[in-house]
Amino acid sequence: MYKHAIVRRPGKSSVRGLTSVDRGKPDFERLIEQHRHYTNALASLGLEVIELEALEEFPDAYFTEDVAIVTPEISVITRPGADSRRGETLHITDVLAKFRELKYITEPGIIDGGDVLIVDQSYVKRHCIVGLSARTNQPGAEQLCDILSEYGYQGDVVDVPEALHFKSSVNFIDSHTLLVTQTCFSLDCLAAYRKLVVPEGEEYAANVVWINGKVLIPDGYPGTQRLLEENGFQTIAMPVSEIAKMDGGLTCLSLRLT
Ligand code: GLY
Repeated sequence: MYKHAIVRRPGKSSVRGLTSVDRGKPDFERLIEQHRHYTNALASLGLEVIELEALEEFPDAYFTEDVAIVTPEISVITRPGADSRRGETLHITDVLAKFRELKYITEPGIIDGGDVLIVDQSYVKRHCIVGLSARTNQPGAEQLCDILSEYGYQGDVVDVPEALHFKSSVNFIDSHTLLVTQTCFSLDCLAAYRKLVVPEGEEYAANVVWINGKVLIPDGYPGTQRLLEENGFQTIAMPVSEIAKMDGGLTCLSLRLT
């Protein structure tokens, strides 16, 4: 169960952040409203939400998940793949150091937290899957796997075949079930998991986040919501249209800590 979430308020500069999608320019007021909706949902699910102040000099800094990989044992501060995001890490260390020992990814490694899926099936194994993307390279992935191997995590490294990050396409919805896009269904390192596949045309909806027994899902994806509900998962639909315009999703908006 998660106890804390670290989020960062989006600054006015957030509308000028990085994006590779063609969904138009976000409306700042609506983006703030959607962010508030998200933090309220986390709080309603029992998390203490720690909201950090906006960082105008880093337009993408409200995607807090990209700057650290947090497990129950440790926090690994990343070296983000985009030059414009690298300095964000200096602004997350103080708060994370209150909860966990810190370790660091170093040059020539680059890695974004959005490319790292940790599944803790403590009764079977602890699993860390790292996607290689424009933001994450082999040295970054290897450094992370080496650090986490000390804590009993099996590391797997795969290519990200689509979208910005690995977790744009694959996320856990309980300790042995993943929600995946069709493209990622056959990845060898996912063979042991039960998998639900988002319907064609709803690939964005694979970016869901499990919070204490509920699955937060972007609204406007009825096929995926039905699929989850029919398989016994309780969902909460979240408005994220403006966040999606900045290549963002539900996972990357927070760092979640057990
Ligand atoms: N806008 C999110 C990112 O590109 O990192």
